[in-house]
Amino acid sequence: MTTVSPIPALLPTYAPYPFPLIRGEGDRVFDNQGQAWWDFYGGHCVCVTGHSHPTVVKALAAQAGSLLFYSAAAALPVRDRAATQITAFAGMDSAFFCNSGAEANENALKVALLLTGRKKLAAFEGGWHGRTLLALSVTDDPKITEPFADQLVPTLRLPFGDLAALASADFSDIAGVIVEPIQSMAGIKTTSRQWFKALRTKCNATGTLLIFDEIQTGMGRLGTPFAAQFYGVRPDLITSAKGLASGVPMGALLMTAAVASKLKGGDLGSTFGGGPLACAALLATVEVITSEGLMGKAAAAAAHLRQELTGSVVTEVLGEGLLLGLRSVHSAALKKHLLSRNILVGGSGDPTVLRLMPPLNVSGEALLALIAAIHSFVLEHP
Ligand SMILES: Cc1ncc(COP(=O)(O)O)c(C=O)c1O
Repeated sequence: MTTVSPIPALLPTYAPYPFPLIRGEGDRVFDNQGQAWWDFYGGHCVCVTGHSHPTVVKALAAQAGSLLFYSAAAALPVRDRAATQITAFAGMDSAFFCNSGAEANENALKVALLLTGRKKLAAFEGGWHGRTLLALSVTDDPKITEPFADQLVPTLRLPFGDLAALASADFSDIAGVIVEPIQSMAGIKTTSRQWFKALRTKCNATGTLLIFDEIQTGMGRLGTPFAAQFYGVRPDLITSAKGLASGVPMGALLMTAAVASKLKGGDLGSTFGGGPLACAALLATVEVITSEGLMGKAAAAAAHLRQELTGSVVTEVLGEGLLLGLRSVHSAALKKHLLSRNILVGGSGDPTVLRLMPPLNVSGEALLALIAAIHSFVLEHP
């Protein structure tokens, strides 16, 4: 008799926490036993306004009750308001809405290829941009790119933050260059304003479109609306997703007037992109970030963590705002220890770096719990 191995109804793609989650509130999530967990992972850098923020929930309920969906075949006032709101927040001129980070990057790279007529892209070592084919072309993660090596678009890959390598690179045939202003998956790697300015200057000189992948760095996380403001550089295109609508799936391609004016109707499109629910959630998200001073709170929380973690098992606090990396040679044991204290954090591609990307309104109580748990690690693992 042959036994058939059971195939789970839900395809396993990720090793989940050892408990299911039932609900969330602010900076905490609750499991099926009613236990609370401090969420420093933020549902993978998504929950900028905290879990189920009442303003977001109310906006969603009202929108669901009046118009749940209509595609771009109809003009929707809520979509127009969302575009006005997010372009003003980001300091850009025009928005195209889609549904995810990879889709935003795919469209940004497509726009660069389309508008320049060039066939090559540029990106940086350690960059992570998504799982669709153009996004994979610029992603530096061989375990997910290698099976598709023959189908990827040729990409010049440069070291991140290296001024000399940038100066000597040939961009004359490069359509677009994409960069995560802070490389998150690579282990929260940052670089200088000077390097971003040099990248902008180089793109201006060669007609290469500069794309900031702000899927993690945007929506107030660095203490400014987007990293573009933090680093003082205006890219041609910004891609956003994750926190954009507080967890309602949404992506956006934010562009300058110069880029938007060259695109024709039909160049970009999406059935669900800019749906009324996502747009209502985006409007509520920006309202909460601005009216509750969440950018200032994010910067203050980050400064507090930096100060309190100095001299602990964490040898370096990396990153900016609430996109932080905790460097420790004991990171695997520390992650386990934090889980035992009901604290969720993220790993990264660097085995010595844990990631913190909590809601921007993370409470003082949560910060205290994290700091105390990290300090207790040393006592319990002498
Ligand atoms: C920097 C960055 N870009 C793009 C993506 C892809 O976004 P999505 O998973 O929504 O397709 C991610 C996802 O983790 C990301 O961190």
